[in-house]
Amino acid sequence: RLGARRNGALAGRRVLITAGPTREAIDPVRFLSNRSSGKMGYALAWAAREAGAEVVLVSGPVSLTPPAGVEVVAVESAAQMYAQVMAQVTDCDVFIGAAAVADYTPVTAAGQKIKKHRDRLQLELVRTPDILAAVAGHRPRPFTVGFAAETERVREYARDKLARKGLDLIAANPVGPSQGFDRDDNTLWVLWPGGERDLGTASKRELARRLITLIGERYGQENS
Ligand code: CTP
Ligand code: CA
Repeated sequence: RLGARRNGALAGRRVLITAGPTREAIDPVRFLSNRSSGKMGYALAWAAREAGAEVVLVSGPVSLTPPAGVEVVAVESAAQMYAQVMAQVTDCDVFIGAAAVADYTPVTAAGQKIKKHRDRLQLELVRTPDILAAVAGHRPRPFTVGFAAETERVREYARDKLARKGLDLIAANPVGPSQGFDRDDNTLWVLWPGGERDLGTASKRELARRLITLIGERYGQENS
């Protein structure tokens, strides 16, 4: 089975994947983050490796063991993740943005622990760079795959993100209190400029395998 997979379109290709949450510092001991566990990104790294790819995983803080044979670059903030991805983008054939990158970061991180002097505290936030859009806009660019985590109108918002960011493929997943983040299973609907496919509901490992197979097919069609 491995032998067959290793002859697929991703065999010997360099696949760059982001995974996990980011942490945006408020002060030396506090940060803003989200509920991402990193499981989907790590499962994708495992599946891409199984398909014979050379895999680099740029990972925010997670408590997961990296898959064997995968190079992990550990980062904390969205800015660090952006820098590490852009340093590698020219060398990769496929990029998969599976990280739950913070959309906003504190304008400044306090140099010292913030004391509770006041009854109210306002944090001023600024947008982070969109890593996925930057990769899609880079020339030359890899085959670029994004995720769309949505609580409503999942396919409609995903199709919009696919077009707006100029992606080759997007995997849409419904998120909410009982779906998506920090769970072992997931539901994925995949869209690309000329079509779409329901990958169903399954374990993240099984969905990762299905998504990597589909990415291999689409990548193979555009690069043959
Ligand atoms: N993403 C990224 N850099 C960011 C924000 C998001 O690379 N600063 C990537 C994610 O890894 C994911 C995709 O963009 O692949 C979509 O993330 P999502 O949060 O669903 O969409 P956003 O574009 O951030 O828009 P919104 O949160 O407003 O829905
Ligand atoms: Ca977002």
